[in-house]
Amino acid sequence: MPVFRALARAAQQTVLTPGCGCRPLALAVRHISFSPRQVTSDASFHSVSFSETDHPKVLITGGLGQLGVGLAKLLRKRFGKNNVILSDIRKPPSHVFHSGMTGPFIYSDILDYKNLREIVVNNRITWLVHYSALLSAVGEANVSLARAVNITGLHNILDIAAEHGLRLFVPSTIGAFGPTSPRNPTPDLCVQRPRTIYGVSKVHAELMGEYYHHKYGLDFRCLRYPGIISADSQPGGGTTDYAVAIFHDAVKTGKFECNLKPDTRLPMMYIDDCLRATLEVMESPAEQLSMRTYNINAMSFTPEELVAEVQKQLPDLQVTYNIDPVRQAIADSWPMNFDDENARREWGWKHEYDLPELVTTMLNSIGADSRIASAN
Ligand SMILES: NC(=O)c1ccc[n+]([C@@H]2O[C@H](COP(=O)([O-])OP(=O)(O)OC[C@H]3O[C@@H](n4cnc5c(N)ncnc54)[C@H](O)[C@@H]3O)[C@@H](O)[C@H]2O)c1
Repeated sequence: MPVFRALARAAQQTVLTPGCGCRPLALAVRHISFSPRQVTSDASFHSVSFSETDHPKVLITGGLGQLGVGLAKLLRKRFGKNNVILSDIRKPPSHVFHSGMTGPFIYSDILDYKNLREIVVNNRITWLVHYSALLSAVGEANVSLARAVNITGLHNILDIAAEHGLRLFVPSTIGAFGPTSPRNPTPDLCVQRPRTIYGVSKVHAELMGEYYHHKYGLDFRCLRYPGIISADSQPGGGTTDYAVAIFHDAVKTGKFECNLKPDTRLPMMYIDDCLRATLEVMESPAEQLSMRTYNINAMSFTPEELVAEVQKQLPDLQVTYNIDPVRQAIADSWPMNFDDENARREWGWKHEYDLPELVTTMLNSIGADSRIASAN
């Protein structure tokens, strides 16, 4: 133990009196509150409290976006509703409170480190699912905010997770690859030179998570999601949003204007598969994971292939193309097919929804919703 304290003191000394003579950063002062050694001892303390309840205590950040509410429902079903806390900086819509699986919701801004720590400590959190982010198209429109949320925010999350021995899930994306990556298919390990702030921030998250894993023993787990398609939650400004919008427009107006070219091929997944994959990788025994970041995939299609499948059920659907140059440039630099062989072999990843099942499920779900809405 004295060795740990000496190490911590040495680290403190280095931070407080940097060799360059510059003023130490406020952020750096935070790091001296724990040393890499303390992280390891804290981790074993927290794993004791985890086994006391047999269930993880989960905090989801950015939980009111496209994916968080669905994940909270899935995790609450498995671990009990009070063991999963949804958080965001937005006011939750009434359906989040009035759904059958309602559980705790709290305000949490990931840029507020002390508030995050308070939440983790007071609620004895053991798993952290970090969903807060600015997505690709929104990020390009506000680079400084994307940099703050996706990079500075991630640093807060990593430090909190390491300090308190949490199991940390951070999603990455097909957007973590770029034009110089092999695109058809894209393997787990290859050149990653994305051209968006979103992609750059996600490569940063992958590498920082893996670094904290090797350096401090952080139980970091990361899946690169493809474009996610969901019926009852709206996408948050990504390049694959067209594949959600088409279903709503087809049911409500019978017309759809697509902002990507008809032959733009991108990997996609239905939300239920995505959320189940997240739970499965979080529950996988560590010895099954040879890596900390995995591609996962279900299907890959172009707008014209999706339109053809939707028109099998709604033959009157009219489609026009009005290309958004920003989104098109992003899509043209992303993988066309995703190689998820390692996830399938190591921890048993298996998707359930292909394109026909996806289309039927989406149309049934949105059609039913809009019939209910018009009946009201
Ligand atoms: N949806 C997809 O197709 C997709 C694909 C690949 C990866 N992902 C990743 O999955 C995660 C969740 O995606 P999503 O589609 O639900 O995103 P979303 O954009 O719909 O939601 C993100 C949420 O983060 C919140 N947020 C923003 N700033 C915050 C802050 N300072 N503190 C706390 N919360 C803040 C927002 O209010 C929003 O509710 C993201 O990390 C995203 O990069 C999503």
